[in-house]
Amino acid sequence: MKRIYFFLCLFLLVATLRLQAQRASDREAQADSILSLMTLEEKIGQLNMLTGNWEATGPVLNDRNKADKLKNGEIGSMLNVKGSIHTREMQTLALGSRLGIPLLFGQDVIHGYKTIFPIPLALAASFDAEVMALAARVSAREAAVSGIHWVFSPMLDVSRDPRWGRVMEGPGEDPYLASVMAASMTRSYQHPFEDGLKVMACAKHFAAYGGAIGGRDYNTADLSLQTLHNIYLPPFRAAARHGIATFMCSFNEINGVPASANPYLYELLYKDWNYQGFVVSDWGSIREMVVHGYSKDRKQAAEQSVHAGLTIDMESNCYAEYLPELVTEGKVAESIIDRAVRQVLLQKIDLKLFEDPFRYCNEDRENNELLSAANRSAARSVAARSIILLKNENALLPVKDTPRTVAVIGPLADSRRDMDGNWVMLSNDPIAVTLLEAVRSNYPHSRIVFEKGCDITGEDCSGFDQATAAAREADLVLLALGEAWDMSGEARSKGDISLPGVQQQLATEIYKANPRTITLLMGGRPMIFEEIAREAPAILYTWWLGTEAGNAIMDVVRGEVNPSARVPMSFPRHLGQIPVYYNHKNTGRPPQESPGNYSGRYIDISHKPRYPFGYGLSYTRFHYSDITVSTQAGNLRVTLKLENTGEEDGSELVQVYLQKLWGETTRPVRELKQFRQVYLARGEEQTFHLDIPYSDLAYYGNNGWMDGSGEYKIYLGRNANDMIYEQQLHIP
Ligand code: BGC
Repeated sequence: MKRIYFFLCLFLLVATLRLQAQRASDREAQADSILSLMTLEEKIGQLNMLTGNWEATGPVLNDRNKADKLKNGEIGSMLNVKGSIHTREMQTLALGSRLGIPLLFGQDVIHGYKTIFPIPLALAASFDAEVMALAARVSAREAAVSGIHWVFSPMLDVSRDPRWGRVMEGPGEDPYLASVMAASMTRSYQHPFEDGLKVMACAKHFAAYGGAIGGRDYNTADLSLQTLHNIYLPPFRAAARHGIATFMCSFNEINGVPASANPYLYELLYKDWNYQGFVVSDWGSIREMVVHGYSKDRKQAAEQSVHAGLTIDMESNCYAEYLPELVTEGKVAESIIDRAVRQVLLQKIDLKLFEDPFRYCNEDRENNELLSAANRSAARSVAARSIILLKNENALLPVKDTPRTVAVIGPLADSRRDMDGNWVMLSNDPIAVTLLEAVRSNYPHSRIVFEKGCDITGEDCSGFDQATAAAREADLVLLALGEAWDMSGEARSKGDISLPGVQQQLATEIYKANPRTITLLMGGRPMIFEEIAREAPAILYTWWLGTEAGNAIMDVVRGEVNPSARVPMSFPRHLGQIPVYYNHKNTGRPPQESPGNYSGRYIDISHKPRYPFGYGLSYTRFHYSDITVSTQAGNLRVTLKLENTGEEDGSELVQVYLQKLWGETTRPVRELKQFRQVYLARGEEQTFHLDIPYSDLAYYGNNGWMDGSGEYKIYLGRNANDMIYEQQLHIP
């Protein structure tokens, strides 16, 4: 019987492998046969991506030029054309071209399409791959039913500089957390839905965009190969490993060569990582190589990019304009163009666009699914899991009783648009639930008083008196402060990331008026708010949480959800500390706080962050015990018992850090290598283990890739600066 079962399994396995091989060769044969029918101009058309300008007056239809280009097969993909109706219109034009090759529609679905999820930095704060996956899944579905085939996400730019406006879009400062996010979001975006629809994801921006000097957007990244490989590239590699369909290059140069044509990056991608998808430029980034001072002119830029391996030109028009003559002049071989076109055709085949170019356009489905109750409920739970409890004196939170009078104060307390944050594409008519609305629905029988107190920016304190009067009379004060939606994001770098305007002064007055004040800080980056950090009784960092912002905040305030998120990027105390990050090197003279020494300290400010990486509180307490570390068969195993000893159910983020003590290249003082959110009901305990494969210890050192063997310290930490347990060990 066992033998029969064995042979049956073997037969099924061989049959499946054959079928897969057949399918692979079918799709390749199909791509080759289409390619063989194409003129050079039609091929180059497939490498040309243009915007539909939908945000302006209406898409290309008003633009004779673009409509003609579509009809001539001169455009292979578009962005900023949204919704079944408009994508259908554009697709119809493209199908009228000689070969009728369908268009790809790409879109910046950064944290949701119609139902808006927390910004990616907040998703990173959840330290929970399932939370990240849920946000990606709903976003993929809403995009797909709106005619979109391709989401320009996840953004995987590790960054150590909160002045950089685009930290809001990314995973924060840690390469391991970023890699977990890359894997989780790639799988979740791209997994086909039951009806066969699926989207392509896009790992961007390749690479080291987050290394912009001074945190100024688009600035040069000047880094060592070690930093490139150990800090910036790991999440991209993870995305490639998990089969991400596309990459987008970055705007910046790396060591003197713009990423749009940097051979080092593309060799790494296609050869070392054996990447099978394609790469799109960033908006206009090919032509910008002229401005960088790298390319002589746009023609040379086209030549350099196509040779490097950049597949699609987004909004530079360099490929469309110059590749024909570059091929005729023999400067670019047609086989290079063929290879790029083939990459694009294969994706169109995988999306089944040749079978039915309109399969993503169905208005009924779009109307039924966007912003559905299920999607909103997913957004609410994801948002609640992204909120960090930074401070909670005298257990002010959670608020279990119903207050008779609530004062809701602050410029962000009833500001719908700001709840969504930056990078939302359907923002004309924001629908997010504000804090004030959620307070009203949570406490229908209480007296609710709303006072703005001040604006987000400016010096006007004239609203302080009314706000403090309202605070004085209330049983509970909710104070909502922070940044406006457009203060973080692309081209939104800031030289001063302190809480803007007079908001800190307002906070100080409110705390004096009523110590039962809960401060909610909203924004797209770690901000600096030293007075609040010192004086506030309780602080929740709520980022920009999206459609369900107010509801999610109240879920946490009332203790329906016990906060479990953690700091994904160190919060500085002072601008002068930036960049401040946890996985720094020790140096020969590590900083000592005491004055008068020759150590790597500042003489005027602390070198320590306000809130370190991994920091965050809970409404309950956890006790760690029975910790053992063992090495076995290519794995490092940490076993521990965790007990919830507090009064509430909740999740604890178990964090494992490593430090390689010495070797051929120095290594950071701590590196996060594994983590898990462990949920325990009050009083419950659990024994479990976390494994770290030795392969995760490999690093790029002075002599290239090293296997990571050597002497280590392993730590369990409450955060990167607070260790519960440490042990020295040898990795063979
Ligand atoms: C951004 C990309 C984005 C692209 C298309 C660029 O300015 O850097 O992240 O995907 O525009 O909108």
